[in-house]
Amino acid sequence: MARAIATILLMAIVLVAAMQAVSSVDITDTDLASEKSLWALYDRWCEHHSVARGLGEKARRFSVFKENARMVHKFNHGGAPYKLSLNLFGDMTDEEVDDGYGRCSSPLPNSAKQSQDRVTHGVLAARDNYPIYVDWRMTGYDQRPSAVTNVKMQRGCGACWAFAATAAVEGINSIRTRKLVSLSAQQLIDCDKESGGCKGGNPVLAFKYMIDHGGISTEADYPYFADDHGYCLVPKRKDPIVTIDGFKEVPPKDEVALLQAVAAQPVVVGIDTKTFRRYGGGVFVGPCGTNQTHSMTVVGYGTTDETDPIDYWIIKNSWGPKWGEDGYIRMARGVNGGTEGLCGILMGGASYPVKN
Ligand SMILES: *[C@@H]1O[C@H](CO)[C@@H](O)[C@H](O)[C@H]1NC(C)=O
Repeated sequence: MARAIATILLMAIVLVAAMQAVSSVDITDTDLASEKSLWALYDRWCEHHSVARGLGEKARRFSVFKENARMVHKFNHGGAPYKLSLNLFGDMTDEEVDDGYGRCSSPLPNSAKQSQDRVTHGVLAARDNYPIYVDWRMTGYDQRPSAVTNVKMQRGCGACWAFAATAAVEGINSIRTRKLVSLSAQQLIDCDKESGGCKGGNPVLAFKYMIDHGGISTEADYPYFADDHGYCLVPKRKDPIVTIDGFKEVPPKDEVALLQAVAAQPVVVGIDTKTFRRYGGGVFVGPCGTNQTHSMTVVGYGTTDETDPIDYWIIKNSWGPKWGEDGYIRMARGVNGGTEGLCGILMGGASYPVKN
């Protein structure tokens, strides 16, 4: 009991800390006025993000930074319902961001599709029976703990698939056991031979791994290393491992099915990230492609409180708390006639772990 209370207290502190994290460096017209002011802006950005660049590299990256700063500033004066920012990718090119952070989710191999014995395209619940607002980060009205751990940071290792899968399992594990436990993405990187470690993988394969190998270790027992170890470490476990009993796929092109799934628990989705690398807050409304090269976890949904309300998903990313809205993105739903969904979110691959 004392431990449960301590956990809840700790979570509250972590949540408050996360909400206070400053996610961006603001840009003014004056910052863009001269080379000198731009250098000052770049220095401020480096300091804010604790980035140290060597002299030659810094000069080269400054030219990238300048372009990004001008683009972001111009976009933010265009009246879109979301902002871009000089986030942690401020002095990186689009290509570098995609290489290190974006291309980390691979399609399910045909062999895995053929043996989808545990995948169910089952009908979910009654179609009109889901809340209008869901946020699994919050403590429940019945004092159940949050179902979402702190935002993780993949740090240039293409492990979004492992973070998306563990976030979904952390969610259902918290809902079923009333214990929020951070789970090991590194174990999946090292041990799930069906996926490609830091070169990318698929959350469904991660669920399969957990089912076939008796569960998943905690983050504390098998901490993140941001690289492939090259071998699977059998961890000396101090904590019990967390198990799941199966997984289900959300039917594609069915927004209501995804709403109902998210109302029940956090759900992994495949996403095209190419147009929101520099997202800095608000409801992202596109434009966006549909190439699902990234995996994230939907942890809720809601509607903005404005004269022109926008419906959105709340999605947990694995690019650290300095990206987006403290590590999350709100992404518009109900777009494209509800078929593809924004950034391909409804195009298949949405799935969730089952825990009895
Ligand atoms: C999707 O992105 C991947 C990785 O960048 C690329 O290899 C693939 O060709 C793209 N697919 C489409 C249909 O554009």
